[in-house]
Amino acid sequence: MDKAEIVALILGQQYNRMPYHRAATAYAPTNIALCKYWGKRDQVLNLPVTSSLSISLGDKGTTTTLTIIDSEEDKVILNQKALAKDSVFVKRLVDFLNLFFSQRSIHFLIDTQTNIPTAAGLASSASGFAALVLALDKLFSWALKPHDLSILARLGSGSACRSIWQGFVEWQVGHRLDGMDCYAVPITHTWPDFCIGLLIVSQQEKYLGSREAMQRTVATSVFYSAWSRKVNHDLAIIKRAINQHDFPALGCAAESNATAMHATMLSAWPPILYALPATVSAIRQVWDLRAQGLSLYFTQDAGPNLKLLFLTKDRDTIQREFPTVEIIQPFKR
Ligand code: PMV
Repeated sequence: MDKAEIVALILGQQYNRMPYHRAATAYAPTNIALCKYWGKRDQVLNLPVTSSLSISLGDKGTTTTLTIIDSEEDKVILNQKALAKDSVFVKRLVDFLNLFFSQRSIHFLIDTQTNIPTAAGLASSASGFAALVLALDKLFSWALKPHDLSILARLGSGSACRSIWQGFVEWQVGHRLDGMDCYAVPITHTWPDFCIGLLIVSQQEKYLGSREAMQRTVATSVFYSAWSRKVNHDLAIIKRAINQHDFPALGCAAESNATAMHATMLSAWPPILYALPATVSAIRQVWDLRAQGLSLYFTQDAGPNLKLLFLTKDRDTIQREFPTVEIIQPFKR
């Protein structure tokens, strides 16, 4: 099946219905995977090889307003700047919106604001596609179920399916070829002391997109099958650690999951290496501090930046050791 068929299946009789409002706004948080998604079993529908687990970042994310406009084409504003219609970002959004209509008779102004650095491995596409799907749902009054919203967001970007929820979220791998059982569900446990530190070591766009990097890893790394087995193991440990608020167990499993993912990438051909010298020195600093007794771990996505994992009691120490870190408490509002 292709993406448009999945959209039509989910919308059913509501497909092609006219919008209910003239404009709608929605917000979705970005999310950081503690147990990563790396590799697709279906490139078109963004179906993963394994399940994954993330934490959403509260008020760090994307707010999108969709307004119906009298125009022959969509217009996109990103963080107050109008984008050229031939930019990669605009094309990706327009292609996604086209999935929702058999023929386009209406066009949108898509005004999107994000408070996270775009394309620096901080999953801005995840919150972006989730916010867009939520805004469409409001505009057309579809009132879709959360798992259907999660599937629609996945069609835009895999990890976006987890951004439909706040808190800890599990993206279930599913088994069906059409992916209708492959969506994210919330894990109800909260953990008010849980902190994430965004450590930006470079604002540069990532040199290789996650789609291409995943495909290359699956196709060429001899370690790939070991990686996917490890994910199932890590996932079980992380879920138990969340349940029991066992921070060292969670930190060790999340860090080891991230380093294994990056090792698998490095064993691809041509090798993929997102770390910069500044990434390596920050990793060494985390390890040194841990050797001195600090309960501090890291995770890293498809980019050079790190996300530090720690508890509120160590907040001041972390801020002192990493003066540029931006600290987020996902459960504190
Ligand atoms: O959803 P994508 O294509 O941006 O891929 C996300 C991949 C990682 O961020 C590295 C891992 C994850 O699970 O979020």
